[in-house]
Amino acid sequence: MGEITKNVWPEMKTLVFATGNVNKVKEVQLLLPEGFLIQGLADIGCMEELPETHYTIEANSLEKAQYVHEKYGVNCFAEDTGLEVEALDGEPGVDTAFYSGTRDANKNMQLLLLNMRNATDRSARFKTVFTLFVNGVYHQFVGIVTGKIAEKQIGDKGFGYDPIFVPDGADITFGEMEPTQKKHFSHRAKAFNLMTAFLTTNFENSN
Ligand code: IMP
Repeated sequence: MGEITKNVWPEMKTLVFATGNVNKVKEVQLLLPEGFLIQGLADIGCMEELPETHYTIEANSLEKAQYVHEKYGVNCFAEDTGLEVEALDGEPGVDTAFYSGTRDANKNMQLLLLNMRNATDRSARFKTVFTLFVNGVYHQFVGIVTGKIAEKQIGDKGFGYDPIFVPDGADITFGEMEPTQKKHFSHRAKAFNLMTAFLTTNFENSN
């Protein structure tokens, strides 16, 4: 069998993470394989809020990555995440960030718990879609973690809805987990690992 020809990356694999969310950056830094370097939006002088105007997680993820790739001319990736609850027909889904009308995590969790007060099925899942933009071409990577919505908030670690989500295979919420423990279950870790595996397979450093 012939050798696979890889695309050559100009230097160390440097990618801009198109997010203003420091919690997401911290999680991704923990997952970074050797040979990769992540830059933030501030490193490229991007201070504006990224557009997020669509009705699916995939489309919003693509929109954010495409905006940064086209406006700043950098190889980059973005991600979008939603919490989908079975008893609420997949809500909050694309409305996860502003479920209560604000970004306030406590208000969002309280509303979700209220809406689930009579639910016997507490199944839910986090879905993350990473969009990688390299040289004008994009690729998407999906990570899903299934689990249950807890009866109340437990734990003060993590961010967002972590204190009310118990992943399958664990008996504590994400909010009770150290970051190193969360990464073994996390939707974000699954999608990110697919993306770095893709980059490793298809690109090699020039130096
Ligand atoms: P977005 O992807 O930045 O639009 O975030 C969607 C919503 O999901 C926000 O309310 C986040 O706080 C929440 N979220 C995203 N990832 C996680 C996670 O890993 N744990 C808990 N909540 C999350």
